[in-house]
Amino acid sequence: IESCIRGQFGRIVDFHESIDSTNLRARRLAEEGAGSETLVAADAQEAGRGRRGRSWVSPPGKNIFMSLILRPDILPAKASMLTLVAALAVRDGIESVAGLSPVIKWPNDIVSNGKKLCGILTEMSAELEGIHYVVVGIGINVNLEEFPLEVRDMATSLFLETGGKVVRSQLIAAVLEAFEHYYEEFISQGDLSRLISVYNKNMVNAGKEVRILEPSGEYKGRALGINEKGELLVEMPDGEVRHVISGEVSVRGI
Ligand code: BTN
Repeated sequence: IESCIRGQFGRIVDFHESIDSTNLRARRLAEEGAGSETLVAADAQEAGRGRRGRSWVSPPGKNIFMSLILRPDILPAKASMLTLVAALAVRDGIESVAGLSPVIKWPNDIVSNGKKLCGILTEMSAELEGIHYVVVGIGINVNLEEFPLEVRDMATSLFLETGGKVVRSQLIAAVLEAFEHYYEEFISQGDLSRLISVYNKNMVNAGKEVRILEPSGEYKGRALGINEKGELLVEMPDGEVRHVISGEVSVRGI
């Protein structure tokens, strides 16, 4: 992997044939002081984790499992944007290496033909005043030919979508390069309007009817796009615009 890396992320690769979860490993390394030059990657995970306590299909030899350690000097309230930035980077990486143009399902699923190609799990250690570290875990279904029955109608891989195999280290390098570009833009500029418009352009939900499932109940509206905090703006039938925060909700197309 290291020989493909061109930028600052992933200059040091902590690679494992098999590990519990690259996110757990990255959190342990971050606690010991590792910085964003360290990329944790694994060929397989024994306890790959998804959002909302789900597990993540992580067999050996086929897919990408990696976690980035970030130490951004921003307020914790702004950190959800990092996951959206990572989603943009994965989308671009896939487009340049596999020649497929998938869409982003807010907040951070990369989807092709309605099925999931990539999931992102962001975990943060922070206090009110600042962030200790953020771990952005990225799982990309690359060369897997067949998924377990339980997830077959929800999950897909680059191989299943294009019929071609991809060299995983090349895709990792392309994603990291795109990530660095968007990350710099996010960290350094007060004005996020360009990032927001690139995201909205690639978001499958934009302009569509969505059903929002919150712990407190369910409602329908039209997704307008994201704001500078990464929240999804949903217009209700009466014109009221609600701000949906990721992590608490599930978004369904109608
Ligand atoms: C989701 O539920 O969509 C998020 C899935 C995130 C999976 C990746 S694979 C690499 C990293 N390590 C983990 O245990 N999870 C993330």
